[in-house]
Amino acid sequence: MNSIAFPAPVASVDADLRRRAAAVIPGGMYGHQAAKHLWPGAPQFIASGEGAVVRDVDGREYIDLLCSYGPIVLGHRHPEVEAAAREQAMLGDCFNLPGPRMVELAERLTGIVDYADWAMFQKNGTDATTLALTVARAHTGRKGVLMATGAYHGAAPWCTPIPLGTTPGARADLYNYRYNDIASVEAALAACGDDLAAIIVSPFRHDAGLPQELVEPEFARYLRALCDEKGAMLVLDEVRCGMRLGFGSSWAGIGVAPDLSAWSKALGNGHPIAALMGIDVLRPAIEKIFTTGSFWFSSVAMAASLATLDVMAREGSVARMHTLGQVLWDGLLAQAAKYGVDCSLTGHVTMPYLCFPGESDWAKTDVFAAACAKAGVFTHPRHNWFISAALSDAQMAQILEATGEGFAAVAAIGD
Ligand SMILES: Cc1ncc(COP(=O)(O)O)c(C=O)c1O
Repeated sequence: MNSIAFPAPVASVDADLRRRAAAVIPGGMYGHQAAKHLWPGAPQFIASGEGAVVRDVDGREYIDLLCSYGPIVLGHRHPEVEAAAREQAMLGDCFNLPGPRMVELAERLTGIVDYADWAMFQKNGTDATTLALTVARAHTGRKGVLMATGAYHGAAPWCTPIPLGTTPGARADLYNYRYNDIASVEAALAACGDDLAAIIVSPFRHDAGLPQELVEPEFARYLRALCDEKGAMLVLDEVRCGMRLGFGSSWAGIGVAPDLSAWSKALGNGHPIAALMGIDVLRPAIEKIFTTGSFWFSSVAMAASLATLDVMAREGSVARMHTLGQVLWDGLLAQAAKYGVDCSLTGHVTMPYLCFPGESDWAKTDVFAAACAKAGVFTHPRHNWFISAALSDAQMAQILEATGEGFAAVAAIGD
C-alpha cells in the first residue's frame, strides 16, 4: 500500500479550541463526538448548520451526511421546527409542572406508532432504553434480559461498550444472543432459565464498525412468539432507526409489534427529546415505579418534536430520505465498480455503512472520508451515515462527486 499523506495541522480556531479544551475537558473531548473517531485532519468543533450544510469553526462548509449521528432528519435549523421551539421558549421551558405540549406529543406519537397506547418522555436514548428494561422487570417481576452481542443501547452501566468504572452486577442479568440467529437466542434463554423479563433488539443490526445486517422477518417473529410464550416483554430499540426506516414503527412492515420501544434522535430534529412507548398492560407497573428527570418535562423540545412530526407527515420526509438514500446507494456501488475498489455497502438506504473488506487498520476508510471532507462532504469512517430530507438533488450530485474523489483516493493507495 502506498503511504498516505494527510494534511498537517494548521494554526486555526479549531486548534486553539482543542488546546483550551485539553486544559478543562477530560481528554480534550469525550464520547462519540471526540474527533479522534473521524478521519485524520477532521475538525473537532462545528460553529453552525443550516439545512443540509454544517460549517466548522474555521469556516469550512460540508454537506452533512452524519446528521449529528441521527437527530437531524429535516436539516439543521428547520424554520418551522425552530419557530415552534422559539414560540414555546417565549412562554418558558422548564417549570414546576409539565405543560400542554407533553400531552399533545403523547397523543401525536401514539397516533403515529400503531401499537403504542402511551408515551413517556426523557432526554437521551439511554434514558429510554434503560427505562424500558426497568418497566419490563417491574411488570414481569423477573430480572433476565436477552440482548444482542455488540449491540449499542446507550452508555449506562448495563450497556456501555466499555464497562470500565461499572460493576459486574450492572450486567449480571444480561444474556447475549447473535442478531438474526435463533439458535443463539435459544442458548441465551437456556442460560437465563425461567427468569426472562425482556428481549431487547434493534430494528436492524447497526453496530458501529461492522457490516450491518437487516432483520430477517422470521427472526423478528420468533422473538415475538418467544416473548408471548414466556410472558416476557419485547423491547424494540428505535433510538437510531425511529422515524427513518418508516414514519411509525420500524417493524410495521414485517408485522411485528413490540411491547415497549425506546425512541430519541429523529424525534426532535436536533432538540433533546427521548420517548418510551408501550402497550396498555404495562400501565400498572409504570405507576408503581419512580422515574423522572429535571429536564424530562421541558416544553421546548416537545414543541420542536410536534413541529418535526408535522413537517415529516406533511412532506413525506421518510419517503424523501428513502429516495435520496437509494440514489446515494446506487451511486456508491457504481463508483466502486468504476474505480475497481472492493467495498461493502450495508445497512438501510437512509443509514448506509461503507467499509472496505479485509482491512484491519481503517486506512482505506480514513482515506475515503478524508477525501470526501476535502471535497466538502462530512461522512464518518467507522459508523453508518445518515440521510436528511433537506438534501437537494444538486447537493446529492455534489455528494456523489465527493464520494467519487473518495473512491479515486482509495484506488490510488492500492492494496
Ligand atoms: C440504537 C441506539 N440505542 C441507544 C442509543 C443511546 O442514545 P443516547 O446517546 O441518546 O443516549 C443510541 C445512540 O446512538 C443508539 O444508536
